[in-house]
Amino acid sequence: MRLLFLGDIVGRVGRNAVVQRLPGLVAEHRLDFVVINGENAAGGFGITEDILQSVLDSGADVVTTGNHVFDQREALVFAERQERFLRPVNYPAGTPGRGAGLFTARNGARVLVINAMGRVFMDSLDDPFTAIDRELAACPLGEQADAVLIDFHAEASSEKQAMAHFVDGRATLVVGTHTHVPTSDYRILSGGTAFQTDVGMCGDYDSVIGMDKEEPLRRFLRKIPGERFVPANGPATIAGLAVEVDDATGLAAAVAPLRLGGTLTEVLPSFWA
Ligand SMILES: [Fe+2]
Ligand SMILES: [Fe+2]
Repeated sequence: MRLLFLGDIVGRVGRNAVVQRLPGLVAEHRLDFVVINGENAAGGFGITEDILQSVLDSGADVVTTGNHVFDQREALVFAERQERFLRPVNYPAGTPGRGAGLFTARNGARVLVINAMGRVFMDSLDDPFTAIDRELAACPLGEQADAVLIDFHAEASSEKQAMAHFVDGRATLVVGTHTHVPTSDYRILSGGTAFQTDVGMCGDYDSVIGMDKEEPLRRFLRKIPGERFVPANGPATIAGLAVEVDDATGLAAAVAPLRLGGTLTEVLPSFWA
């Protein structure tokens, strides 16, 4: 089975790049299952239902989020009815939407997707380790799930790496999101779980984490809030991670980064050739 995870979509250029290129990637490389983090898709802040639908229509099977999930207030409503839309599982009880789901891939495999959020240098939430442990116990890899994909949305590399080791051997892939910068440590851990500390973003990298440079720079220099942050609108790079799944075990057989377009060096997974 062939999985692809794409990092946070930032603004119009990010979502246009995804919508334009994903259908071709899915068809040409026979991708069985695609997950994309969409938390910054609407002007950098949250996601609307129309944008969600366009990302799903372009070939995403599931859209995950993070701390920006409810920046567009309509998400409080559509999170309940959009089953392919996830918010962090460790939000307080009673929060609209869901943090995990079991989905069917194009090859018929059952894929458990879990979205969780870290607590280091972020808003305090319920313990993500306990929450993920609970979801894995309810739908174990190799039993009810043929693959398990975890989007751990967190600021601290330490927390993301700790989570990966915590679930090593129980998940196909743990991918970090939120920092919007791809790390080069993608690998398969000793227990068979593929991992990358952060997958990066789908957006314009000639920016400050996807935002037009002017206002972030001004705030660092002057320490006075002024204008709103707006997404940078230059050519976007699609950044993601591809995983080949060992269909016998559900663990990772190969992992490689994907970067297309924009200012970063392009790379395609060699096992897609
Ligand atoms: Fe983000
Ligand atoms: Fe975030």
